[in-house]
Order: sequence, then structure tokens, then C-alpha cells
Amino acid sequence: MTTKLDVNGATHEVGADPSTPLLYVLRNDLGLRGPHFGCGLGQCGACTVMIDGVATRSCTLPVSQVRGRITTLEGLSTNGKLDPLQQAWIDEQVPMCGYCQNGQIMTAKALLQRNPKPTDADIRTAMEGVLCRCMSYYRIHAAIKRAAGVPVRRETVE
Ligand code: FES
Ligand code: FES
Repeated sequence: MTTKLDVNGATHEVGADPSTPLLYVLRNDLGLRGPHFGCGLGQCGACTVMIDGVATRSCTLPVSQVRGRITTLEGLSTNGKLDPLQQAWIDEQVPMCGYCQNGQIMTAKALLQRNPKPTDADIRTAMEGVLCRCMSYYRIHAAIKRAAGVPVRRETVE
């Protein structure tokens, strides 16, 4: 049995067992290494992708239950041009070890798509639960504001 997936604008047929987590299919079958395995329990956010624009944890979602268009980190840049959010991440020098950053960027992208001018509170609410062991939260917050075109007043970034 095969499953059809729409990933980053292309259709793929994969032969993975229907119960296989989407994360494994993306990484192992499709070679997309943006989404990371962190906890495998839906609790850290490292594996986040967007499905129809909604930030979704792919480590606990069986591939047979996927409905909609999947966007991974690799799908954010087009023709070698970085997404504004990716550029903001570079400008703010956000990552430390980098392990969590896929989840941070994909969750932030979903936020900005539904709310292009988020408040500090909106950002905190949306990003809650996407864990960073390196504590890069201040710079993540600043990068989201930069991408949204909102002035970053560093003394108020929490
Ligand atoms: S690896 Fe999916 S939430 Fe942690
Ligand atoms: S940058 Fe290291 S876990 Fe977030």
C-alpha cells in the first residue's frame, strides 16, 4: 500500500507502513532533514512542519492520517531566495546548537501567515512549548519581530 503526500509543492508516493510517523517518512524516505527528531512524543517541537499552514508536530502523526499540503523547512526558500523569516534568523544570529531551530522557524512561519503583525504576547503564545535547550528565546522573539517589520525594542523583548 502506498500513501500520496504533497510536500513542498511536489507529489510523492511512499510505501511506508501506514502507522509510520510522518517525520520518519520525511527524513528517511524523502531525504528532508529540516524536521528533527527530538522527543518523539509531541512535546518539544523539533519535528514541526506546516500542514495547510498549520504548525504540526510530525513525530506523532501517522503518515496515513496526513491530509493537506505539507511544507517543511526546505520548502520555505524559493529559487535559492531565503524566506524573510530565514533572513531575519540570520540577521539576529539566532541559532546556537541549532537542533531546535526547525521547530522554531516553522512555528513562527505559521504564526506570521495567520497574523502578519503579531504582538509580543501573540509571539509568546504561539511559540510556547517549542523548546530550546540553548535558551535562544530572546533572539527567536527578536527575529520574528524583525521578519514582521515590527521594531525590536530589545529592552522589552522577553
Ligand atoms: S520530536 Fe516531535 S515534538 Fe519532539
Ligand atoms: S539552539 Fe540549541 S536547542 Fe535551540
